[in-house]
Amino acid sequence: MKATLAILPGDGIGPETIKAATEVLRVIETRFRHSFELKNWPIGANSLRSGQSALPAETLSACLSADAVLLGAVGDPEFDTLPRAERPEAGLLGLRQALGTYANLRPARVWPGLEQSSSLRTDRLAGTDLLIVRELTGGLYFGQPRGIEQDRTSAINTLCYSRNEIERIARIGFEAAQRRQQRLTSVDKANVLETSELWRSVVIELSTSYPDVSLEHMYVDACAMSLVLEPSRFDVIVTENLFGDILSDEAGAIVGSLGLLPSASLGNGTGIFEPVHGSAPTIAGKNIANPIGTIASTAMLLRHGLGAEEEALAIERAVEQTLADGFRTVDLAHGDTAPVSCSKMTEAIIERLANCDS
Ligand code: IPM
Ligand code: MN
Repeated sequence: MKATLAILPGDGIGPETIKAATEVLRVIETRFRHSFELKNWPIGANSLRSGQSALPAETLSACLSADAVLLGAVGDPEFDTLPRAERPEAGLLGLRQALGTYANLRPARVWPGLEQSSSLRTDRLAGTDLLIVRELTGGLYFGQPRGIEQDRTSAINTLCYSRNEIERIARIGFEAAQRRQQRLTSVDKANVLETSELWRSVVIELSTSYPDVSLEHMYVDACAMSLVLEPSRFDVIVTENLFGDILSDEAGAIVGSLGLLPSASLGNGTGIFEPVHGSAPTIAGKNIANPIGTIASTAMLLRHGLGAEEEALAIERAVEQTLADGFRTVDLAHGDTAPVSCSKMTEAIIERLANCDS
């Protein structure tokens, strides 16, 4: 297959982990005889530094016409004093909105051998394998009105969801559950918020079309607690934008490190594939970042963006094997394990990817 990918390395550790992921893509290209056109485009703080906006028009049009977008990370504390609409993050949020990627899939599972890296006791962790389906283009992130008074005495954000926005993300949740363990947890705060009241009633209405999926509702505070008490009880969690943002970081800590988690952001056009972690400015440029979140996002790109399931599985197996063989970046290392660098971890994954038979 021929495919054009827009590569957006972004800020902080983004360029290092994207370098790792593009090396993996080159191996896939050779092994499966594909031809990938990979072109880098600026976004976020690096774009601001070169005098452009956080999402330059050329970057956006390259993304719109690409088969898929692979993104590193966006954000830099240097720009934290700028008005919100001019910050690096505005580039990422603008891209998600422009591509209409309303469904963000964030799988989290314990890779064999990583039990010791978890924040949880091994007995609590066993069997954890969940998928967070996060609504990505609505809610508090985008609601109007928003703003801060000039005298800084008050500020406002708006939480708003339409029936249509809830319905389309809930369908993604139900369908994902059908393909997995047929269990869906819809997370809201329906005891307090009207948006959650609507959310819950729409999810209940839809559930009659998915009789094979067992549905439960959970308040977000209870879900945050259940995740650390018994993460294995969850299969698919579907929730609104901000709740999903918070719960996915929690899921990262539970399965060993936020650095492991990949994501796919899907809509009706081009998808965005990016790790769940941020730009981690304090460790940027040190070659110690965990490349697995971005490499596993590349697997999701192949699966969801290009329909290349076998290629995606080959990457996931290589990652699994590398972890089983004991390679640990510093975020995963514990006790006597000497951590490996970002490039060493990537090399180990590529070696296994190139050598496995299937
Ligand atoms: C994420 C990130 C982003 C978000 C930030 C960088 C805007 O935390 O993808 O989870 O909040 O969505
Ligand atoms: Mn986040």
